[in-house]
Amino acid sequence: MQLFDVYPLNNITITKAKGSYVWDDQGEQYLDLYGGHAVISIGHTHPHWVKRIEEQLNKIAFYSNSIKIPLQVQLAEKLGKVSGKEDYQLFLCNSGAEANENALKLASFHTGRKKVVAFSKAFHGRTSLAVSVTDNKNYVAPVNETDNVIFLPFNDEKALEACFKKQGDEISSVIIEGIQGVGGINVAEVSFLKKIRSLCDQYGAVYIADSVQCGYGRSGKFFSHDFAGVNADIYSMAKGMGNGFPIGGIIIAPHIKPKHFQLGTTFGGNHLACAAALAVLEVMEEEKLLGNAVMVGKYLREELEKIEEIENVRGRGLMIGFDVPEEIKDLKKNLLLNQKIFTGEAKPNVIRLLPSLALKKRDAEHFIEAVKEEIEKMKSA
Ligand SMILES: Cc1ncc(COP(=O)(O)O)c(C=O)c1O
Repeated sequence: MQLFDVYPLNNITITKAKGSYVWDDQGEQYLDLYGGHAVISIGHTHPHWVKRIEEQLNKIAFYSNSIKIPLQVQLAEKLGKVSGKEDYQLFLCNSGAEANENALKLASFHTGRKKVVAFSKAFHGRTSLAVSVTDNKNYVAPVNETDNVIFLPFNDEKALEACFKKQGDEISSVIIEGIQGVGGINVAEVSFLKKIRSLCDQYGAVYIADSVQCGYGRSGKFFSHDFAGVNADIYSMAKGMGNGFPIGGIIIAPHIKPKHFQLGTTFGGNHLACAAALAVLEVMEEEKLLGNAVMVGKYLREELEKIEEIENVRGRGLMIGFDVPEEIKDLKKNLLLNQKIFTGEAKPNVIRLLPSLALKKRDAEHFIEAVKEEIEKMKSA
């Protein structure tokens, strides 16, 4: 049997990982500023994370949600504390798409309405509802097409107001990434998020903060939406939540009440996933990783801004993007090939940095030097 070929691949086989580094099967070392697509939050194979998963594996890995799982309660308590959303309720699942799927569905159950507002360049996942609010026709199969989704320009308060004025009583929810990831690191403006909050309040709609990529400390705050100083009704999470162990979830404001069987999952919240997620939060607190993301992220942005060949440095914390003009379009490829540094990208010309939140300053310094060196080489070629 062959693999179903859905992604173009780098010709590299990674066999070992530690902190912000990975090694291939030839023993070559790479600096990982991509974090396996923003997944590695506390660093690859962190010893506390490995130990907690190992210990749990030797006790029980899985049982269904038909019994009490105290680890879920511990995770909810810890997450409430670390995120500052102690009065929220936690529902666990397995991925980012699934988290958004459940968020959108719950909002519709809650309001009894069908319409959803989403924004240009949004990415919310590949499953049915999640992909229907994703602004990329290539990902949307005919079966996912729906008239229930209204796409509006990102950060356009007037368009949002006009939309609510016209059909506010039909809108179930507004879904927005605090910082668009796949869309190219576009930061939602504080005033825009406040406007979403006030319109949702006025018209009885649910504000869904997709925090799958920009959440879990990546921006330097636990949720990047928190920069606006207003709460969303539902936050969706995944990626950094398990540091590579598959787990996702939504946290739900207290005014949205649960009803038996509206949401459900077989694997979500299993013992092993909860142990991994608890380990992540424990390390985040212990090693003060949000502070590190602020500090190292600030250094990276400031140094990148000084490099005149690259444009529009943007982002928050350790979620950073910049535009690569045509003359140096091979920068990402050359960083990997010559400097052994993984970075992320967004089409057509954006480099995305999504490293572990434990990235050391000296690794950030090394990256800046490597970028300068590769740009010089391309200019003099
Ligand atoms: C903002 C955002 N939402 C949702 C998803 C989907 O997450 P998953 O791939 O875990 O389904 C992603 C994945 O890149 C994402 O960036």
